Amino acid sequence: MDHSRRHFIKKSLSGMAGLSLATTMPGSLQAMSAKVSANDSLNVGLIGCKGMGFYDLEDHLKQPGIKCVALCDVDKNILESRAADVKEMTGAKPKLYRDFRRLIENKDIDIVIIGTPDHWHCLPMVMACQEGKDVYVEKPLANSIEECNIMAEAANKYNRVVQVGQQQRSGKHWKEAIDVIHSGRLGEIRKVHFWCNFFYGAGPKAVPDKSVPEGVDYDMWLGPAPKKPFNPNRFHGSWRMFWDYGGGLQTDWGVHLIDMGLWALNITEPPKSVTAMGGNFAAGDRACETADTQTTMFEFNNFHLTWDHNGGIQTGPYNRNYGIAFIGEKGTIVADRSNWVLNPEEQDGKKRMENIPRHESDGKAHINHVENFVECVKTREKPACDIETARRAAMFTHLGNISYRTGKKIYYDKQKNTFPYNPEANDYLAPIYRNPWELPKI
Ligand SMILES: NC(=O)c1ccc[n+]([C@@H]2O[C@H](COP(=O)([O-])OP(=O)(O)OC[C@H]3O[C@@H](n4cnc5c(N)ncnc54)[C@H](O)[C@@H]3O)[C@@H](O)[C@H]2O)c1
Repeated sequence: MDHSRRHFIKKSLSGMAGLSLATTMPGSLQAMSAKVSANDSLNVGLIGCKGMGFYDLEDHLKQPGIKCVALCDVDKNILESRAADVKEMTGAKPKLYRDFRRLIENKDIDIVIIGTPDHWHCLPMVMACQEGKDVYVEKPLANSIEECNIMAEAANKYNRVVQVGQQQRSGKHWKEAIDVIHSGRLGEIRKVHFWCNFFYGAGPKAVPDKSVPEGVDYDMWLGPAPKKPFNPNRFHGSWRMFWDYGGGLQTDWGVHLIDMGLWALNITEPPKSVTAMGGNFAAGDRACETADTQTTMFEFNNFHLTWDHNGGIQTGPYNRNYGIAFIGEKGTIVADRSNWVLNPEEQDGKKRMENIPRHESDGKAHINHVENFVECVKTREKPACDIETARRAAMFTHLGNISYRTGKKIYYDKQKNTFPYNPEANDYLAPIYRNPWELPKI
């Protein structure tokens, strides 16, 4: 958005009450201040530059009118090399930050992309919303159910457009599969089965703790997570196998795949119960706290959802290492990011439904997802993976992990945000933030 216009609106509104803009601005005025014309250019700042965050930024830069004005990372080596990448791609050097709060304060920024590990999604996202930015935040929405709830409250209260990185929601072939299911052609769906077998899900080979690498602000990398000695396995990339920062394959891939099942079956509420079992059964001396092997069952009245992951191996059902089977009376659709196929049921030599040819992905889910977000920033429409959609998918995956960690069949009361019959499960609803960080209050 044009900077002087944003500045004028902010100044006149905050002058009215002499209070912080975020707490005083009524919803309609907020929406007005956020209205961006289709021709406006939008300035983006990225927090967390190494992996997916940078990929998100690259696709943002392919959209008309988008400029990258700032990058933030706690690892100076990554920050500098990504700054050079941006300079090469755009010809301009962005402002560089080591502390994300300074980036969020930058009044020139309209959109914040958050590509940090999962334990570092909630605070920057909430702060960005409070500063009037729109946010593209990576999945899973957060590393706990309570953080997800807080983020949803923040997006709603501050009237922000928030897209979450579950890009299947913008994938053409996924939509086509979901349309077939919604049409009823598969008959009643009795089960949706998700699976995911990846080598990385068993964690890397264990190595001893080391001194913090030069140029890394490790205390800031840990942020609200407990203080621990530095270990390369609990850092870039492989942090996802440690509870303080991620939830293993159950959350990492769970949100992507389970989201498709929730969409297909129009599920908006938590399951009746969740039962998970598993352990760390993969061969070798691995650095992995989360379960490398896990099966989770989500119970509903007339169908159920089943999840299965096996880290350390890479073959799976229907000859796919990961995927979804939507199992109906008349046929089963088997889908992954590349394509989907229909396996029609046959009885006494008679097919129960017409065949549907295999549908290939056009490979554009991610760029479509980013395009959809930028469009929604301009129109103030709800994006393809809005905060509620992401909160729901994350909730399912966290419930799976909570059942695994307590060893109990759990019953979640969403209204009261509690486990009435499993008091021990309540301990997993929210993390305890390490000083000086505090779980945001909205
Ligand atoms: N949508 C997808 O398909 C997809 C794919 C991969 C990863 N992801 C998600 O993207 C996020 C990042 O994953 P990744 O694999 O790129 O991780 P990564 O470890 O490769 O990169 C994370 C970056 O964040 C930086 N960082 C950490 N704390 C920071 C802080 N406080 N301030 C600024 N920078 C900080 C790290 O130094 C690192 O550069 C995760 O939430 C992950 O689940 C999504």
